[in-house]
Amino acid sequence: MRIQMDVHNLEQTDALAKAFSKVVRPPMIILLNGDLGSGKTTFVKSLVKYLGSDDVVTSPTFTLLNTYSGKFPIYHFDMYRLSSMEEALAVGFDEYFDKKRLDGICLVEWAENVEGLINSVDFVIDIQKITDKQRKFIIREFSK
Ligand SMILES: Nc1ncnc2c1ncn2[C@@H]1O[C@H](COP(=O)(O)OP(=O)(O)OP(=O)(O)O)[C@@H](O)[C@H]1O
Ligand SMILES: [Mg+2]
Repeated sequence: MRIQMDVHNLEQTDALAKAFSKVVRPPMIILLNGDLGSGKTTFVKSLVKYLGSDDVVTSPTFTLLNTYSGKFPIYHFDMYRLSSMEEALAVGFDEYFDKKRLDGICLVEWAENVEGLINSVDFVIDIQKITDKQRKFIIREFSK
């Protein structure tokens, strides 16, 4: 599956997250790629809401990982401050990316910083900033 969509405002990003939430179920690993400020965390906020969690979503820029609870655990990573797979291993992140043991879903920003850590990806969401409010989303599914 590959979906490309141009959204023109926050409401359309929210609607896309709602539609996408319908295909999300544990165990899944979803990467969000895109420049600083492209809208990765904004998409995660909507997605977490539509997955039925009431938890407040914040950027894990400094915490590296935020965990939200709902029907299943949602692990929200921001690898921006890491610079290698070894650094991610040092903080024990490899246990989350073992699909056989994963009890929820992983949403990962800046996964490119920890190349080699995550082997079984289900979806990659690319976000490009076009204008202040406009974004291009490309959602690709990877099947094993
Ligand atoms: N259509 C849109 N979709 C998503 N975000 C939008 C849109 N229009 C405007 N924005 C704004 O763009 C900003 C995106 O910031 P966000 O923190 O989500 O980016 P990010 O990709 O997670 O950045 P970082 O790499 O720093 O974590 C927010 O201020 C959001 O309100
Ligand atoms: Mg972010």
